[in-house]
Amino acid sequence: MATALAAGMANKCERELEFSVYSPRVASIKKLADVCGPKGKVTAATSAQAVVDECEVVFLAVKPQLLEAALEGVSFESKSLVISIVGGADMFRLRRIVGHNRIVRAMPNTPCLIGMAASAYAVDEDVSDEDAALVEEFFGAVGTIVSVQDESLIDSVTGVSGSGPAYVYTFIEAMIDGGVLVGLKRETARELAIQTVIGAAAMMKETGKHPGELRDQVTSPGGTTITALKALEETGMRDAVMSAVLVCTERAKEL
Ligand SMILES: NC(=O)c1ccc[n+]([C@@H]2O[C@H](COP(=O)([O-])OP(=O)(O)OC[C@H]3O[C@@H](n4cnc5c(N)ncnc54)[C@H](OP(=O)(O)O)[C@@H]3O)[C@@H](O)[C@H]2O)c1
Repeated sequence: MATALAAGMANKCERELEFSVYSPRVASIKKLADVCGPKGKVTAATSAQAVVDECEVVFLAVKPQLLEAALEGVSFESKSLVISIVGGADMFRLRRIVGHNRIVRAMPNTPCLIGMAASAYAVDEDVSDEDAALVEEFFGAVGTIVSVQDESLIDSVTGVSGSGPAYVYTFIEAMIDGGVLVGLKRETARELAIQTVIGAAAMMKETGKHPGELRDQVTSPGGTTITALKALEETGMRDAVMSAVLVCTERAKEL
């Protein structure tokens, strides 16, 4: 995620960005530098402390289970703006580690690599309007960014959009397999399924219409689409998707 975010920010932000990156494996830093290209100057820091001391904005992007260990002994005295994308790490836990309240809890998703992220963020007490504007600039450079008032809703954001691409990939894969089942070549079914999802999502975004209204427009009496929709309802797809969001949100809280 750090690599995807840095690459998107380096290539889309108007201002020139310099990144100081710490990771135990130098190969990971090199990969990050490679995808940032010439627009983002990347230097390898020797420690997490060096990153905190050098940078105006500090991103935390380790796995939730590693957060405390990765920052053990690190002092955040400089009070730089801290942006955490660590899944499930709430403000209480972040404050305990960071020792101040200039913290942003953000949740992007992997399409940020191609500038199509859906991100959300929540701010702690000492985050200024300028800090929030910076967060919107950074994440806005890699897609859409919305703010949520209650930071616990970031776990809900994880359930919808943080993990959401995986649900959509599963749906597309099933559509492709369905296409193969009814005789299409896999590449043909793939192209049609991908474009159908992109097109349907764009229709919703551009028209602002309710999904039910758009669905009704393509569902003629006794026709093919209503027959297919009945099959989907019988499998409990709607319930399955809602349950996926729910258990994902709960899992984020557990971590
Ligand atoms: N994947 C998603 O779609 C997604 C979406 C939103 C938020 N997130 C959140 O983003 C965070 C990272 O997820 P990910 O999928 O990017 O995981 P990941 O690929 O495992 O990346 C974690 C990075 O942390 C580095 N790391 C490990 N120990 C460290 C330490 N002690 N100090 C500094 N860096 C250390 C790893 O370095 P090495 O490569 O050198 O081992 C790796 O580059 C998680 O908290 C996750 O909840 C993920």
